[in-house]
Amino acid sequence: MEKYNLHEIRKKYLDFFENKGHLVTNSFSLVPKDDKNLLLIIAGMAPLKPYFLGTKKPPKNRMATCQKCVRTSDIENVGKTDRHGTFFEMLGNFSFGDYFKREAINWAWEFMTKQLNISKEKLWVSVYLDDDEAYNIWNNEIGVSKNKIVRLGKEDNFWELEVGPCGPSSEIYIDRGEKYSCGDENCKPGCECDRFVEVWNLVFSQFDKDELGNYSELLNPNIDTGMGLERITAVLNDADNIFEIEPIRTIIKEIEKITNKKYKNNNKDDVSIRVITDHIRAICFLVSDGVIPSNEGRGYVLRRLIRRASRHGKLLGIKNSFLSNLSDVVIENWKEFYSNLEDKRLQIKKIIKIEEDKFEETIDQGIEILKNYIDDMKNNNETILNGYKAFKLYDTYGFPLDLTKEILEDEKLDVDEEQFNLEMENQKNRARSARDKDNKNNWDSDADFNFKINTKTRFEGYEKLSTESKVIAIIKGSQSIDTLSQNEEGYVLLENSPFYAESGGQVGDKGIFKNDKFKAYVIDTQKKNDKLLHLVNVGHGHLKIGDSLEAHVDRNRRLDIARNHSATHLLHKALKNTLGQHVNQAGSLVTDDRLRFDFTHFESLTKDELNKIEREVNEKIWNSLGVEVVETSINKAKDMGATALFDEKYGEKVRVVKMDDYTIELCGGTHVNNISQIGMFKILTESGIASGVRRIEAITGRKAYEFNLSLNDKLNTLSDVLKTNKDNLIDKAHDIMDEVRNLQKQIDSLNSKLANSKLDNILENVYNINGVNVVTKKIDGIDIDGLRQLGDKIKEKLDKAVIVLSTEKNGKVNFIATATEDAVKSGIHCGNIIREVAKITGGGGGGRPNMAQAGGNESSKIEEALDLVKSLVESQLNK
Ligand code: ALA
Repeated sequence: MEKYNLHEIRKKYLDFFENKGHLVTNSFSLVPKDDKNLLLIIAGMAPLKPYFLGTKKPPKNRMATCQKCVRTSDIENVGKTDRHGTFFEMLGNFSFGDYFKREAINWAWEFMTKQLNISKEKLWVSVYLDDDEAYNIWNNEIGVSKNKIVRLGKEDNFWELEVGPCGPSSEIYIDRGEKYSCGDENCKPGCECDRFVEVWNLVFSQFDKDELGNYSELLNPNIDTGMGLERITAVLNDADNIFEIEPIRTIIKEIEKITNKKYKNNNKDDVSIRVITDHIRAICFLVSDGVIPSNEGRGYVLRRLIRRASRHGKLLGIKNSFLSNLSDVVIENWKEFYSNLEDKRLQIKKIIKIEEDKFEETIDQGIEILKNYIDDMKNNNETILNGYKAFKLYDTYGFPLDLTKEILEDEKLDVDEEQFNLEMENQKNRARSARDKDNKNNWDSDADFNFKINTKTRFEGYEKLSTESKVIAIIKGSQSIDTLSQNEEGYVLLENSPFYAESGGQVGDKGIFKNDKFKAYVIDTQKKNDKLLHLVNVGHGHLKIGDSLEAHVDRNRRLDIARNHSATHLLHKALKNTLGQHVNQAGSLVTDDRLRFDFTHFESLTKDELNKIEREVNEKIWNSLGVEVVETSINKAKDMGATALFDEKYGEKVRVVKMDDYTIELCGGTHVNNISQIGMFKILTESGIASGVRRIEAITGRKAYEFNLSLNDKLNTLSDVLKTNKDNLIDKAHDIMDEVRNLQKQIDSLNSKLANSKLDNILENVYNINGVNVVTKKIDGIDIDGLRQLGDKIKEKLDKAVIVLSTEKNGKVNFIATATEDAVKSGIHCGNIIREVAKITGGGGGGRPNMAQAGGNESSKIEEALDLVKSLVESQLNK
């Protein structure tokens, strides 16, 4: 066999299929687009699903890609074996209703034997049980002898995701020879041992599987093939596994350098080295595709990977964060094919660093706590960690569940996952209901928008805000209906419409439909299943299918939205100019009220930066830049220098929005004609929403004016309250604050005098319990700080003492307990005392052995509560 490296094989494969008439495209993003069934891309076919299903027309009916993939279903085994991994590249050639089994098999064979020069003797194949067609092609046309064709069942030779295109498959295996064999003389593909390695899966994609597991036949049979690039490289190089090939070895070498340890010297270290080697690739590629660590979805996958790798770094003895630097090795070695690794180097390194550092802050504490849990479990002969505790580790110390599990597993312990999930679910529900309160959305209803109407509404809203049109369909609930009556609400589809449907972060239009028989209000406009739907409420009359009507968009609202949308483009540019080119849009919301822009940046913005950005945008507005919109091809748009989201796939025609020479972006939204129409731009807030992502909220035009008005009103009220004129407000505020500080000082000094005066009286009432001085006292007219100071003073005067004091204000009760070190040594625990004491007054609290604090509600029970102290002390001393 000839030895080719990873990059050479990738190139050979893509060139080969290009020569066979395939359109070769770059790898799609790891983040699926418009696919609610998939968290991350796990196979070459995944981004192409709509082409397989026929819901979208492919740019060409044969395509080939080398697709980055991340699979985390086996994450806990990654590292432990040398066979598992999360990140890999998948080579694939695809036919969308074009060629089928014959060509797929012939080309696969040609590639293996003529391009990779693998000897025919080493190749075996499998087919699905009753797939005689494939069997015959292999046997009669290719010449593979019958004893090297294996028929396998659904488990091996039927390929499917949870839902979507799927079908029977045929696989190609390489025989690695006797030395890898299990020794069984019947050993052949399908055997668990390492001798026959499956390298290429040719899927004859004929079905669409739905959520319920039903298979329906696709209109056209397709081809979907997949060959793991790392695996074929390993086999070709006679390497034992993918960790032995370049450039993956280069990562291992770097880890060896950092740790001063050698791979393959010690089993335990090898596990950690493999974990890091695998995860760092997944991490870099995920971040390069815009994923950011978070507690949900793919952000959580990334967080788990970083935290797991970080912990294994610790196991190898690495003291500080290291993954960020290690990412350079990945970027250097993979950037030629994946150029966005280089483009995003700064961002990748920063985001990893922030996440690593964040984990660093809590990992030691978390590990300590988990160790305590483990000790407790061992002492109590338990083997299952309480799910609530695991959840606490997750929630407070950032320990992903599998990390906790992994650490427990080393001790042969497990965790109650059900309980953990329950806690997690509870937390999510709390967050969801908080969110729902904020966003009540009519469109989340269960309405089924999959109705069978093929007409597509002609959108006219770029040119006009009013038009004449005709009703094509009405939907209410999930039913298609003929008439919508007065006060009824439903979704209306028109022949043509000026209403903009929510997309690209811009909210949908509102307005009215009317003719001389009815008037209806358009409450929102959205796109569902590619249909432009108006959510309509009929004011009077009836609205019927076939009705002609006038459709009017609410003009003022649309203009407010346009102002905010155009301002978003200006803001994006001003951010880049001020903060650097690493700033990229990470999300945006444009409404009539305000704009919200999320962007990648690593620290909060200074006041100066914010001022500079705001001023830059306003200066552009004063300069009255013209806005030009052109429709062109994506390539032309890129040549023009348009900013596009790198991982978006665009259609043939794109819309470019150009504001003079200042900004040029791909955008489908609606804009002002001239920047001066924005009027004014005002930033309201700047905040962090995830590590490495910041958010700016701002207003324009009318809202900015109203904001100024209300600010002015507030100033007027303030000058009334402070009894000074507006120019003097700041001096006056300083004066008042000085006065407050002076008064506070006086209060403090009075408090301490008061405490001293009470001291003598208190010291006359000291009990002695088994050699410990006990003081309990309710003090009036003192705050909690005074109480604490008094406690300390009493402590200074007494040897071996425990002091519990209480005070009450407006029905609220406060307790403090404090003890000398020698009292603590004899068994006193203030936290435990005060908890019991506070309970009597209907409250709670706790603290350390030498200091604790608590509260309660029933002031009438203070004396009773304090009386309990003596017996608590007694029992603590007798323990
Ligand atoms: N989709 C097939 C796989 O991932 C080719 O194996």
